Amino acid sequence: MRAPSLSLAAVVAAATVLVLAAMTPAAEAGLCSKACDKWSPCCVPSANGAFCANQAWGCMESEGCDKDSSYNKMCTPRPMCKSFREDFNSPASLIDKYNYTGDPDAVHFWREFPGADYAEVENGNLVLSLKWNDKLGRGQGATIPSVRWMQYGTVSARIKTASGPGVVSSFITKTDISDKVGDEIDWEFIGANATEVQTNSYWNGNIDYTRGKQYLLPAGQSTTNEYHVYTIDWSPERIKWQVDGNTIRTMTPADVKNEFPTAIARVYFSVWDGGCNQPPGTTKWALGPTEWCNDASKRGDVKKMYIDWVEVKCATEDSRDTKEFKPTIVPPTSASGANNAPKSTIKGTSSGTTTDESAGGSSSSKNPKDGGDNGATSVIASIMAVSVPIVAAVAALF
Ligand SMILES: *[C@@H]1O[C@H](CO)[C@@H](O)[C@H](O)[C@H]1NC(C)=O
Ligand SMILES: *[C@@H]1O[C@H](CO)[C@@H](O)[C@H](O)[C@H]1NC(C)=O
Repeated sequence: MRAPSLSLAAVVAAATVLVLAAMTPAAEAGLCSKACDKWSPCCVPSANGAFCANQAWGCMESEGCDKDSSYNKMCTPRPMCKSFREDFNSPASLIDKYNYTGDPDAVHFWREFPGADYAEVENGNLVLSLKWNDKLGRGQGATIPSVRWMQYGTVSARIKTASGPGVVSSFITKTDISDKVGDEIDWEFIGANATEVQTNSYWNGNIDYTRGKQYLLPAGQSTTNEYHVYTIDWSPERIKWQVDGNTIRTMTPADVKNEFPTAIARVYFSVWDGGCNQPPGTTKWALGPTEWCNDASKRGDVKKMYIDWVEVKCATEDSRDTKEFKPTIVPPTSASGANNAPKSTIKGTSSGTTTDESAGGSSSSKNPKDGGDNGATSVIASIMAVSVPIVAAVAALF
């Protein structure tokens, strides 16, 4: 264990101050250099600097919305847990993040980068794809977070995972950096070993891989050939991981020196390339190299993970009115539009999740077998890529 969370946080914080200094004129209090107007009311950080968003996702506290520079301090609270079952029976059960209306009852999951070519609803399944990407020099996969957050409760999903060396499928709960760095509860599936499932947890950004455990499925079963129901049953007293209703692991706070996930989290599904252009420990863990890494003739292959359904049972139900989550975004009239319409009708390609690091879903679990430096570097890189905007928003308040 060589990546104490404090130093990690310090590095991120220091980098954040620099990023912030570079993008915000000194005299301004808020994150955006200019107060946002009612046509683009919400100031949201992004990898390319903060901007005034005219879409509901940019108004969400959970996306880093900055009250100080938002119009009428308009930022919407995090939608918390409401129990649901999603069968993915309609294409409408998955939307683009940038089409989110602000109604967390309207949809359970959205597509994070990179979009529709990587995550689709097909034949009653949510299908996530991993495809070769020349620019990255490895596969680019999909990441799908839930719209609502949870803290304790049960999440089950019926999944058939992606196969092949280096290919990793993940089903996890995960916080973001503004809550607490890196609490996670993980299921991970190594595409080259379909007889095994892996469980893990992380707490407060502590990169301690020793908490990962592997389990063999009953003889004749496979993660990639058929569907199984995987469950995370999470309470303050213990986490249970179950396959098809059978508990394979129970972990208590005492088992992990009280380094036990407690922070609110979203549910994520992702498929990612752990076996190409990754640190050696990651590649080894993922049983890489991925076929396309050294064999260009494989680069047209698509690796797929199938999610038939997801069921969330919350420990605590969110009883707030859905209206609370809906920002008021006034479309510009032609008269007002001429002068006041926002420069930034940015569609969100710079949302801060544009790197494939987010495709790992489980950023801190990317290098389970890498000691110290590789692990820490990769985690910092992925935290920077995915979460700096949110830290920036927090830092701007001080
Ligand atoms: C998102 O909105 C755009 C433009 O309004 C539309 O073309 C597209 O189909 C929508 N996508 C989804 C997945 O809802
Ligand atoms: C697959 O996983 C099982 C259980 O963890 C392990 O015993 C076996 O050695 C693994 N096979 C390979 C090829 O890694």
